Amino acid sequence: MQKEKTDFLVIGSGVAGLSAAIELSKHGKVLVITKDIPTEGSTEYAQGGIAVALSDEDEVGIHYEDTLRAGDGLCREQAVKTLVEEGPERIMELISWGAEFDKEGAKLAFGLEAAHSRKRILHSKGDSTGKELERVLINKARSIPNIKRYPFTLAVDLIVENGACLGAAVSRERTPSIILARATVLATGGTGQVYAVTTNPEVATGDGIAIAYRAGAMLEDMEFVQFHPTSLYLPSAPHFLLTEALRGEGGLLLDSSGERFMKRYHRDMELASRDVVSRAIITEMNRTGASHVWLDLRHMGREFIKKRFPMVYATCQRYELDIAKELIPVCPAAHYMMGGVKTDIFGRTSIQNLFAAGEAACTGVHGANRLASNSLLEGLVFGKRAGSAAALEAAGQPDVDGLQLGLLPYSIPAHDEIRGDLRRLMGRNVGIIRSRNSLKEAAEQLEKWSYIEDKVFVTRRELELKNMIQIASLITRAALLRKNSAGAHYRSDFPMKTTNWKSHIGITKEKGPFIEE
Ligand code: FUM
Repeated sequence: MQKEKTDFLVIGSGVAGLSAAIELSKHGKVLVITKDIPTEGSTEYAQGGIAVALSDEDEVGIHYEDTLRAGDGLCREQAVKTLVEEGPERIMELISWGAEFDKEGAKLAFGLEAAHSRKRILHSKGDSTGKELERVLINKARSIPNIKRYPFTLAVDLIVENGACLGAAVSRERTPSIILARATVLATGGTGQVYAVTTNPEVATGDGIAIAYRAGAMLEDMEFVQFHPTSLYLPSAPHFLLTEALRGEGGLLLDSSGERFMKRYHRDMELASRDVVSRAIITEMNRTGASHVWLDLRHMGREFIKKRFPMVYATCQRYELDIAKELIPVCPAAHYMMGGVKTDIFGRTSIQNLFAAGEAACTGVHGANRLASNSLLEGLVFGKRAGSAAALEAAGQPDVDGLQLGLLPYSIPAHDEIRGDLRRLMGRNVGIIRSRNSLKEAAEQLEKWSYIEDKVFVTRRELELKNMIQIASLITRAALLRKNSAGAHYRSDFPMKTTNWKSHIGITKEKGPFIEE
């Protein structure tokens, strides 16, 4: 089997992975692997923007309070403090590397999104903020000779010996090989693809979280899956994200009779936090039997919409929907995993020399519900921190010459069928509103597919399916154990914040899900 050595291995090339790689490159050779082309990930598709307390009317203390409030009592305060305090410096650094954010005159323009008490969302080309971040970070990484990149390279499993991570077994263009590294950073993004209705790109199959779990790392908060309230609902179109900034600029949510139903749910109406708005929409849909509600932008005027939201406008036009003139059919979609591989604020996991950052990690910064537009900032801040901690702490790796991965690749004949069934099951039973019965039923079905978790694969679709089954089961088991409702986790059989609601739920392979002390 082929073997390659590097100082640092980064798995994933979105905002967190590239931030880590750029930092690590000051200390040694870095290899960044990604399973698709480097730009294919959630960062690239982020629309609304990046939250940062930089405007004249804002303060980091207010950003801190807003983040805690949205997190519904479950944020880890030290992580939030780190995010809001270091955020402004990371943004200024990004601007010094060439990032262009929209301006009003000579000053940066700040937008409003749900649950923010100040206008603090920077955006680029209206609604293409993620694309701008990815462009700048990739260009920066390309300019650094110490950073090498392998696209189309899948991380199959981590190599862990005596409690320390030595690198990863990978499949590069279907050829198994081993990459040894003094430290490994997981930055593989989220898990949205385990749901049939999601805003996430196809690559978001939870790979990093699944391989960390298999390697014995501790995970946390896996029950907290954020649903974005507004994805495009058109039978002919994918569930394209309709950025929260549309509501921040005055977009209204209407039911089939044209009523602003949010007034029955929260005083902040369309700008209540995402968990509240998503639950309200699903409740309305269930009540009326409708497959969607409506988003109304017609009062904003065509010129404003085209200028402020050019990508949303053009995408809807492509599906023959004129959003300046017509109501937009919308429904909630799985959007962001608040949980993940448990880390401290330096990205350290429970496995030595293994670090995680961004959506794959759980620092506790988002608590039970992420504040809108905090995720790109999270990637910048905690990606860099993970890179610098990994550089500092990485020990020399022992020789693993004798290592055999037992690669007898297995094949699942009906894997695409199982993938579809799994995604529908998760939407039906482990979605916005859950109960013991729905979760039990999901757990039983997932158990029937668990034989796949032991198999070795080298093809992308099969490996993804293995990871998706694992992730779906982790979400379901954590959701069963959390017998209360907080943030994005709502149980119709335990609708209140009752027993143990302040506790976090950890999961390891050895112990299963458990309530942390
Ligand atoms: O609505 C949005 O543009 C999404 C932002 C986010 O998930 O932070």
